[in-house]
Amino acid sequence: MKKILVTGGSGYIGSHTCIELLNAGFDVIVVDDFSNSVAEAINRVEKITNKKITFHQVNLLDKKSLNNVFHQEENIHAVIHFAALKAVGESVAHPLEYYTNNITGSLNLFEVMKNHNVSNIVFSSSATVYGDPETTPIKENAKIQATNPYGHSKVMMEQILIDTNIAHQWGVVILRYFNPVGAHPSGKIGEDPEYPNNLLPFVSQVAAGIREQVTIFGDDYQTPDGTGIRDYIHVVDLARAHVKSIEKLNTSPKQTHIFNVGTGTGYSVKQIIETFRRISGKKIKTVIGPRRPGDIAECTADTSLANKELNWHAEFGLKEMIESAWKWQSTHPNGYKS
Ligand code: WQD
Repeated sequence: MKKILVTGGSGYIGSHTCIELLNAGFDVIVVDDFSNSVAEAINRVEKITNKKITFHQVNLLDKKSLNNVFHQEENIHAVIHFAALKAVGESVAHPLEYYTNNITGSLNLFEVMKNHNVSNIVFSSSATVYGDPETTPIKENAKIQATNPYGHSKVMMEQILIDTNIAHQWGVVILRYFNPVGAHPSGKIGEDPEYPNNLLPFVSQVAAGIREQVTIFGDDYQTPDGTGIRDYIHVVDLARAHVKSIEKLNTSPKQTHIFNVGTGTGYSVKQIIETFRRISGKKIKTVIGPRRPGDIAECTADTSLANKELNWHAEFGLKEMIESAWKWQSTHPNGYKS
């Protein structure tokens, strides 16, 4: 069976992707340092799939240990690279930490891959590379204009991979995620942030009584109800796009492919909160606060390229996204520590 090495594989999107890879018949190797995840997530993935994962606890900044992993694990078919710091606000406050972790860590990975003749990669990028788009839905050829160190780091890593394809004929798929939410339908794995920077986990924790209220960051945007509109995508749909990307590397090798991964449908903050109230049956207290610096009014994906080139479509709607998020939250009030 083909071996896929997943960096950050015990994280939120990584663990969901490992499930889909195992279900698709791949052998999965995870490299993670648990800086933003826990080992229990790997245990749950193995229980859900009834398959084993080979695990290496390594930080990508430890190039020697990373090299040893590639030395031990022969015939790696492709790498899926999730491991990175990803909080926009935190990146503004600590840019050097973000560039060191995201760029140096990735460069170590790419160099070790090259030294071991591993030349296929699926890269976790983000809609944040588009900054404040001129038009939405956003196409892949829209202007790249990141506005924060996290987004800049993603733009730089995309460029490094594009240049590596040109020089060394790597197979590269760059996936620009919109807003991943929800959890595996089993309710056994899910998003477990130290602090919920994003809307869905925050609303979820308010519904569970862990936090008191949701602050709506501004209701004076040029949108129908004044609150920000985003393209939320079920994390299982997103995970399946990675399996399709591995297949794409086989059918269209040695090229660089870039895809937006969203649903094409946007929902406002107020719509999300209202839907969460209806599904959870919880009140969910809100207060209107000031706009969050760097936020934009609307960000939705044109997914036609991924639909066509990956033969992939998002299958889950908002109801399933929120039902699955609530099932995870309500059965795991303290995440994996529950
Ligand atoms: C969504 C909407 C907020 C919290 C970020 C990153 C992006 C990606 C996904 C990594 C916005 C509003 C939020 C709250 C609120 N991460 N909001 N109250 O900012 O679209 O995207 O996460 O790849 O790169 O930029 O997601 O969930 O933080 O915000 O009103 O407590 O909810 O203003 O309109 P965002 P988000």
